[in-house]
Amino acid sequence: MDEMRAVLFDRYGDPDVLRVGSLPTPTPGPDEVLVRVQAVGVNGADLLNRSGRLGLAARGPFPKTVGIDFVGEFTALGASVSGLRTGERVWGVLGRRAGSMAEYLVVPSRLVAPAPRNLSAEEAVSLVTGGTTAITALRDTAHLTAGERLLVRGAGGGVGSVAVQVGKILGAHVVGLAGASGHDFVRALGADEVADYRTTALADLGTFDVVLDAVGTQQSRLRRLLRPGGRTVAITVDFHRPLRSFATILASSVFGGKRIRFFSGQPETALLAEITGYAERGDLVPVVDTVHPLHRVTDAHRALEAGGVRGKHVVRLS
Ligand SMILES: NC(=O)c1ccc[n+]([C@@H]2O[C@H](COP(=O)([O-])OP(=O)(O)OC[C@H]3O[C@@H](n4cnc5c(N)ncnc54)[C@H](OP(=O)(O)O)[C@@H]3O)[C@@H](O)[C@H]2O)c1
Repeated sequence: MDEMRAVLFDRYGDPDVLRVGSLPTPTPGPDEVLVRVQAVGVNGADLLNRSGRLGLAARGPFPKTVGIDFVGEFTALGASVSGLRTGERVWGVLGRRAGSMAEYLVVPSRLVAPAPRNLSAEEAVSLVTGGTTAITALRDTAHLTAGERLLVRGAGGGVGSVAVQVGKILGAHVVGLAGASGHDFVRALGADEVADYRTTALADLGTFDVVLDAVGTQQSRLRRLLRPGGRTVAITVDFHRPLRSFATILASSVFGGKRIRFFSGQPETALLAEITGYAERGDLVPVVDTVHPLHRVTDAHRALEAGGVRGKHVVRLS
């Protein structure tokens, strides 16, 4: 077990730069756990990372790794870790540190929780990044309350498809903005209204108490859709113009009452366990577009990049 398979890339580029290579199998430190990874989601963040669009936010030398979330089982626990047992199926999100698309992963024990027992690894991983991001954005950042009008922009994607469900859990009237191929399932997830982003102008969507923006462009136009007291939570920016995007977010906190809030999530055990509870009660349901084997990781990236995703592309490792 000295070496393990891992998805690597040696330069930024299109999905063909990805390769399955090998890395030394990591060893957990005192507060860490070793996870044998079973499934990893393909996230919008992975495409940004691989293509080089993260710019200065990307750290470390080549070869670089991909994958920000995981479901797997503990195979070893650090000396200071208590309350966990090997063999337990867990899940988590690495945040900005990529590298979960590998056979083994070392992660601090505070960043994992038991995965939902009612779901397969592939189903579960489709919920973990979207679930933790949507709860943080809608409940903890926007303080969305029952009866408010919520716009989920990017409703067909990994985060958006869970955000629609979280919006309904919180009692909002949910409008999902998605490509036409996603309308049926976004409605089936509970959206009260759906609109096609390719044919509907933002100004024609009405007004909102809360906007969750999973796309990042047209920030000023989105802000104009807010009612008095309205809140936008941006989980991404326009990576073609990142400085301008961040400047708009900053300016919104100084000028006018319609502030755009931005966060970059790093969910810990308590939040992960909450999402586990929602999934086990059936309040959050997984939406898996396609499960890809590890050696087809290039296809998985290509499929997400092509557009029209329905929930999540997932890569199976074992
Ligand atoms: N801040 C955080 O903590 C955090 C956490 C998770 C994700 N993120 C970021 O959030 C973004 C979304 O992530 P994701 O994993 O959900 O990506 P994803 O699965 O690729 O979903 C993006 C969705 O947006 C749709 N879309 C594209 N342009 C649109 C537009 N103009 N209007 C409405 N919808 C549009 C896409 O539809 P088509 O496929 O039909 O084009 C797709 O369904 C990424 O940039 C990611 O890095 C941030």
